[in-house]
Amino acid sequence: MSHRRKILITSALPYANGPIHLGHLVEYIQTDIWARFQKMRGNECYYVCADDAHGTPIMLRAQAEGITPEELIARVSEEHQADFAGFNIQFDHYHSTNSPENKHFASYIYNQLNDKGHISRKTIKQFYDPEKEMFLPDRFIKGTCPKCKAEDQYGDNCEACGATYSPTELIDPKSAVSGATPVEKETDHLFFELSHFEKMLKDWTHHGHLQTQIANKLDEWFESGLRAWDISRDAPYFGFEIPGEKDKYFYVWLDAPVGYMASFKALCDAKGIDFDAFWQADSDAELYHFIGKDIIYFHALFWPAMLSGAGFRTPNAIYSHGFLTVDGQKMSKSRGTFIMANTYLKHLNPEYLRYYFAAKLNSRIDDIDLSLEDFAQRVNSDLVGKVVNIASRCAGFVVKKFDGQLSQAWSDSANALYTFFADQSDAIAELYEKREYAQAMREIMALADKANEYIDETAPWVLAKQEGKEAELHESVSLGINLFRVLMTYLAPVIPATAEQAASFLKLDGYQWDAIQTPLMDHEITKFKALMTRVDMDAIEKMIDASKEDLKAQPTQAKATSNKSDNPTDTQNGSDSLDPLADEITFDDFAKIDLRIAKIVNAEQVPEADKLIKLTLDIGLGERQVFAGIKSAYQPEDLVGKMTVMVANLKPRKMRFGLSEGMVLAAGPGGKDLFLLNPDDGATPGMRVK
Ligand code: MSP
Ligand code: ZN
Repeated sequence: MSHRRKILITSALPYANGPIHLGHLVEYIQTDIWARFQKMRGNECYYVCADDAHGTPIMLRAQAEGITPEELIARVSEEHQADFAGFNIQFDHYHSTNSPENKHFASYIYNQLNDKGHISRKTIKQFYDPEKEMFLPDRFIKGTCPKCKAEDQYGDNCEACGATYSPTELIDPKSAVSGATPVEKETDHLFFELSHFEKMLKDWTHHGHLQTQIANKLDEWFESGLRAWDISRDAPYFGFEIPGEKDKYFYVWLDAPVGYMASFKALCDAKGIDFDAFWQADSDAELYHFIGKDIIYFHALFWPAMLSGAGFRTPNAIYSHGFLTVDGQKMSKSRGTFIMANTYLKHLNPEYLRYYFAAKLNSRIDDIDLSLEDFAQRVNSDLVGKVVNIASRCAGFVVKKFDGQLSQAWSDSANALYTFFADQSDAIAELYEKREYAQAMREIMALADKANEYIDETAPWVLAKQEGKEAELHESVSLGINLFRVLMTYLAPVIPATAEQAASFLKLDGYQWDAIQTPLMDHEITKFKALMTRVDMDAIEKMIDASKEDLKAQPTQAKATSNKSDNPTDTQNGSDSLDPLADEITFDDFAKIDLRIAKIVNAEQVPEADKLIKLTLDIGLGERQVFAGIKSAYQPEDLVGKMTVMVANLKPRKMRFGLSEGMVLAAGPGGKDLFLLNPDDGATPGMRVK
């Protein structure tokens, strides 16, 4: 083994306000393949990530759900980690940006920058929501486009005509949070003086740390001048308070990349790894960030400048990828191609998608397309038809005819074929290293074709029926199994679960890149079990249908879900999918639920909450106040006088807007179709429901 590299790898930190979808997975799969590859090469490699938990959209979403931001991000973190585990993404550590480690490093970096004079203070004018008493990010202001007069456009650009403008130019602006007319208000903000780092950045961006397409893009940004970066936000904000300031918080993008350090620090503390060896200015460890092309500015300019200003090392490289399209088009909820990770997992094997993405990915930033028919064909023909087939054609003979024992010696020609396979190892490693996965998959499949040709030519099923051909048969199937093992080693970073299953029938501990050089001679294997079934087009269709359902089931929620620039462009981020049935309960559990007929005597809007209506319910024994998430389907005035069914003995819950003393029952897919359970005439308030 050559020099053992020290490598730290990250993927971008997903926002803690929406589920993981197949678009995200392009990145996590791409990174995971690279990390697994580096580990197989014998390097000391760590892959860390975290949830990106701060910012206005997360704060507002928690409010809309009537929970604390901490509760929201804890729930989402669990969902994210379950999705990643489902796709065999193997992080060494998964953290949160809302963590003590992150607070420490964000404050430390800020203090360093401040001490060295890189932070300035300016008074700016910003729109303010007088009802909600908060400053509004551009994306939380809606109004009529000043150019084309399209209504209901965001504060920074028009989706109808594509114009960009500042929110003050909007005609009839309204707060997307409360509906109030925003007022302009002055406030002091803190800025990071990026221009102080111009020389350092120009140098850094042209020293092989970035893909060429990106270095070129950055040149355009240098030409238009590096502007100071606004890094503070006023209260109320969910984030870290800025040291030495009052009611000022770090903008989410200030502490987000610091989350890479924080996650790694938590890993170091748990495992006794030397943190400084990876982050100090003269570190000889390698640092790589995998990201999507939409967040280059933050990673290729702000982040290296922050690191260098605070006395840390800068990344070896930022590796960006393009965006996912499905059947040639942007993922779309109505077409059912906006597919959540957990919807996919209910219908298809994650290894399929890992292989398909690998077969499409290269080192460039072009978008990649998931063409559903091509996906099925590719997986069926390559993985099932070529690779897995080799083992299933040979293993039976080894087990039945030779007691599971592979042969002890080979002919020269068999040796030559094995050596040919093993000799590709450097070339294939080089392709993985350069993130040319598509090319690597082509090389590997060409080898799989070769292995199948060898089996066709030697025809073990014919040899098995002939007398005196035992030695030839033994060589044919032993070599077949050996070639299969080489291919599995090459594919292990891409299809780790399949490789692991194969390892168990090959009786191997696992796969190391260099182990390829030594064939399995006189080695025992055990009975082959089917490793992978064919992709079924029906399952794909079901997944698409289910994705359309997810859309219907999606509860209405704060519009603001993404925060690329504190903005909710990406409403796509925020859908919840259908839950499976809840855990079984006993009859006694059920009997504890006190269901009562309730009369809605009053119903009011809750301006701070997107989903809730405040109900006053008469249940015969007095009045109860309940916040019900049915605003998407009802106007308050339509509800007054109606009878419904409520859970009367639910433990009262304190919400931001007041106490909720029970729950009303409704059914339906959500959105506008949400039906209150309506008792027939004759019901009187307080009646028990049985
Ligand atoms: N929270 C920020 C990243 C902070 S990193 C310090 C963020 N989160 S995100 O959830 O919106 O995206 C996470 C990653 O997934 C990003 O790198 C983003 O580019 C990538 N993708 C999100 N949607 C994608 C597609 N549709 N296709 C490919 N990648 C996509 O940005
Ligand atoms: Zn317009």
